[in-house]
Amino acid sequence: MEFDKVIKERHTARNFRTSKRPVYQQIIEAIDAANHAPLAGNAPCLRYILIQDKEKIRKLAEAAVQDFFENVDFAVVICSDKSFLKKSYYERGEMYQRQEAGAAIENFLLKITDLGLSSCWVGAFSDETVKSILKIPESIEVEAILPVGYEAIKEKQKSKPNLDTVLYFDEWKNKFMKPKTKVPGTHV
Ligand SMILES: Cc1cc2nc3c(=O)[nH]c(=O)nc-3n(C[C@H](O)[C@H](O)[C@H](O)COP(=O)(O)O)c2cc1C
Repeated sequence: MEFDKVIKERHTARNFRTSKRPVYQQIIEAIDAANHAPLAGNAPCLRYILIQDKEKIRKLAEAAVQDFFENVDFAVVICSDKSFLKKSYYERGEMYQRQEAGAAIENFLLKITDLGLSSCWVGAFSDETVKSILKIPESIEVEAILPVGYEAIKEKQKSKPNLDTVLYFDEWKNKFMKPKTKVPGTHV
């Protein structure tokens, strides 16, 4: 799919087809895309757990109290290990850990879109329960659960803030570019 189309097409899906199912190679491709995201100091602090076990997926949906994904064939859980980041970057390490996970998750979602599949970034769940289902050690953070499937009924594309409201030039809250220029995507 063309790059801009992937960006615009990506959206959260919360209902998945049972008649058409992904194959594991597609999920690996998306994990590979996630694994190409930038990393502070290029240290590999993220881990990916590909889950196919139906019972585990059902339990993960329960741990998230989000039953819309209890019947998907695949889910990916992204985890992070902050020990290197904390050692190398002190208090900024925690911020880097979250940013790295976010970058990897977005790469994953974009590749899923490119493959014609759908997913949802699930961030609300009981950490303790997810760790216990997947035997994840205490010291590792669970960043997200990403169920994958073919979308059944396309969710309405969410509108995003107009660039006018989020883009500043040269300093906080300055909405005007110098010299005065028409900026594509804004009314300024
Ligand atoms: C950090 C984060 C956590 C999220 N957690 C959940 C979640 O637990 N369950 C869910 O259904 N959607 C979750 N979402 C998806 C958002 O609700 C969704 O991205 C938002 O409504 C915008 O829609 P879009 O993804 O279609 O653009 C999460 C998104 C982010 C970025």
